Amino acid sequence: MTNEVSQEQYAESLFGPDEVLNKVTASILEQGIRDISIVPGYGRLLTLLVKSMRAADALEIGVLGGYSGVCLARGLDKSGRLVSLELRPEYAELAHANLRMAGFGDQVEYRVGDAQDSLRQLEEEGRKFDFFFIDADKGNYPNYLEWALKLARPGALIVGDNTFMRGKTTDASQQGNAVARMREFNERIATDPRLDSVMLPAYDGLAIARVKESS
Ligand code: DHB
Ligand code: MG
Repeated sequence: MTNEVSQEQYAESLFGPDEVLNKVTASILEQGIRDISIVPGYGRLLTLLVKSMRAADALEIGVLGGYSGVCLARGLDKSGRLVSLELRPEYAELAHANLRMAGFGDQVEYRVGDAQDSLRQLEEEGRKFDFFFIDADKGNYPNYLEWALKLARPGALIVGDNTFMRGKTTDASQQGNAVARMREFNERIATDPRLDSVMLPAYDGLAIARVKESS
């Protein structure tokens, strides 16, 4: 036995408790939902990225209980807006209640249903975004990336959670559809000429890409 903690645990221990996000997590567990929210360190990164680029319009795909929604909304200024796409109405309701609790209820719009239908709708409405957070069904990540590129303002950031899929992505014996599509997503993040990108290998992997101004 050693007293060793992981580098991720050490990094998290530096930060004080976050009462609002703790309440979000508690509400997810109270509903009997498995808590697969973004990890706290990446939540802080979302806030920092949204704030640094002064994003006016953010879009997230997959909301669960609103943890990432709170992190994204924290980075926006008062006039900033978040559109959140979610398949399950009960998740969208829980997330909206949590965004209200956090003081962002009026800045977020939920669209319930198949995300690709909502994305098509947003395109028809001529909506554009400066920030995308993809955290939904892994088998559609390449499609969501393509939609993000369509709806992006020049210089927009596209962030994708769980690029390692708990080790499946790097395990060559894993050949299922979702993992194959995640590998495709990761390769496109790295090689698409329209993007400047980085892959963060901590936690379950996070992709961050910036849409080039000229694309
Ligand atoms: C898991 C984690 C996630 O963040 C997610 O979006 C989906 C699944 C998981 O750990 O299983
Ligand atoms: Mg995730």
